[in-house]
Amino acid sequence: MEAMSDANDPALPGPDLGVDGAAIADLPDGGLLVGHFRGELVVLVRKGAAIHGIAGKCTHYGGPLGEGLHEGEFLICPWHHACFRPETGEAVRAPAIDPVTTYSIEQREGRAFVTGVKSPRIQRLPIPSPPASVVIVGGGAAGFAAAEMLRREGYEGPVTLVSEDDAAPYDRPNVSKDYLAGTAAPEWMPLRSPEWYREARVELLLRSRAVAIDPKETRVRLEGGRSLPYGALLLATGASPVRLDIPGANLPHVHTLRTMRDSESIIEQAKRAQQAVVVGASFIGLEVAASLSTRALSVHVVAPEQVPMERVLGAELGGFVRTLHEEHGVRFHLGQTLSEIREGSVTLKDGTRLDAELVVLGVGVRPNVELAETTGLRLDRGVLVDEYMRTSAEGIWAAGDIARWPDRYSGERIRVEHWVVAERQGQTAARNILGRREPFTAAPFFWSQHYDVPINYVGNAPSWDEIQTVGSIADRDCLVAYRKAGKTRAIATIYRDLPSMQAQAAMDRADPQSVDALVLATAS
Ligand SMILES: Cc1cc2nc3c(=O)[nH]c(=O)nc-3n(C[C@H](O)[C@H](O)[C@H](O)COP(=O)(O)OP(=O)(O)OC[C@H]3O[C@@H](n4cnc5c(N)ncnc54)[C@H](O)[C@@H]3O)c2cc1C
Ligand code: FES
Repeated sequence: MEAMSDANDPALPGPDLGVDGAAIADLPDGGLLVGHFRGELVVLVRKGAAIHGIAGKCTHYGGPLGEGLHEGEFLICPWHHACFRPETGEAVRAPAIDPVTTYSIEQREGRAFVTGVKSPRIQRLPIPSPPASVVIVGGGAAGFAAAEMLRREGYEGPVTLVSEDDAAPYDRPNVSKDYLAGTAAPEWMPLRSPEWYREARVELLLRSRAVAIDPKETRVRLEGGRSLPYGALLLATGASPVRLDIPGANLPHVHTLRTMRDSESIIEQAKRAQQAVVVGASFIGLEVAASLSTRALSVHVVAPEQVPMERVLGAELGGFVRTLHEEHGVRFHLGQTLSEIREGSVTLKDGTRLDAELVVLGVGVRPNVELAETTGLRLDRGVLVDEYMRTSAEGIWAAGDIARWPDRYSGERIRVEHWVVAERQGQTAARNILGRREPFTAAPFFWSQHYDVPINYVGNAPSWDEIQTVGSIADRDCLVAYRKAGKTRAIATIYRDLPSMQAQAAMDRADPQSVDALVLATAS
């Protein structure tokens, strides 16, 4: 049944594109125009003489595509930089996986009208060299994105996804955010329904650990003895949380957080707790602190640094994040570590004792490289891959938190722990497994959410010699540029999505001049 027209709904912005259309003169080449059609938001995207119509909401978390950036062939989502192809609606780059609806457009008398909804279509090219089968070890961001892309590209051979987890691939970033806070329903978490795996013929082996690879025989051995042959193998084993080596670190009320199961254990404990101690003021530690305060627990954060996240964001932005959490009741014990955990309390190095019925450790992760190591793959603080995500062994690819790749923008080999990077690397690895020879050129991107404040970060600046702040961090309206040896290495923004998307596009093109120019333009 077709949606009823709701031309008079004042909540819908712009013209009714079915009835009044939009003046083509108002839509410059490369520009966007937001209107509506039968009660749905529609964005018109102009590309030369052609005008395309696509749905106004991103299929990831519903970001407003009308505020996106039309760059080259793609429309970039302002929230987490997913890329859509306006002609087809295809989500070509994660974190969106599903396409957006597209609309047919008619141009008459200088106006563009939406005339109906188009059937979705994916542009498929012939597959240059399909392997006999693909085995993916790791059912997280990279592993899932690779399996999905293999099928989207039209690969017909067997695909097996081996995962140690007990749940099918899910939205891991949410595990410390809305899911832990109790504001996301469990049904939001899976990236795909069980039917999708059946219909896509992706064999999902859950609670299955890969323990050895024989590259000569091209087989993966699982715990329990089963052995899987592969034509191509993708390693996407992610990372595991570090535990502290102090007395009491293994008590039952002490948790780490990586999986949905971990999040559920914390939620269970939180129901019986009034005070929690979070160890570590990293992204995950602070997101846990925010979620537990939403659950009305009294939360203390203990961390060795003087300013939360200073190493990544710098002192000013880190200080702002601290204030934000303090405004929500979180108490910080910085320049401190734990010496002991007991049932009901923790002791800090300076002797302070804090009550804690729940302790969450957010003290970092280690990439899961054992499988790659025992296979004899080349390692260097991660699994070394080339720009096509190939490891040093024929027929074996790696992606995600374990992969150290040649980053085009910085010119360095880097390894990061970001959701979007892992998904995009999984997608690139899948295309290359099929013989596409597509280099991975996307600059790293991550986001972190602290209450109602999102921080978006493009690039990679493990160190810097200058930080330039444009706008006001305190007013939650800023761009922070991290420079090293005269080059802008990364940009963090709060509610400045346009320069963040422009920086992404320029860094993807490995164009530092454009990055500098946009910082200048934003500052003036
Ligand atoms: C709580 C939390 C919140 C986060 N929030 C954000 C965020 O807001 N923004 C952001 O950019 N990033 C965030 N991240 C980081 C992001 O989730 C990771 O970078 C991303 O998941 C890495 O993807 P991956 O595929 O490499 O590994 P993972 O997603 O960790 O998947 C690895 C998979 O491999 C499986 N596995 C490991 N070893 C084996 C084996 N031997 N055999 C079989 N299976 C195996 C694991 O069970 C798992 O299923 C967050 C991470 C966590 C834990
Ligand atoms: S909402 Fe569009 S990428 Fe997340």
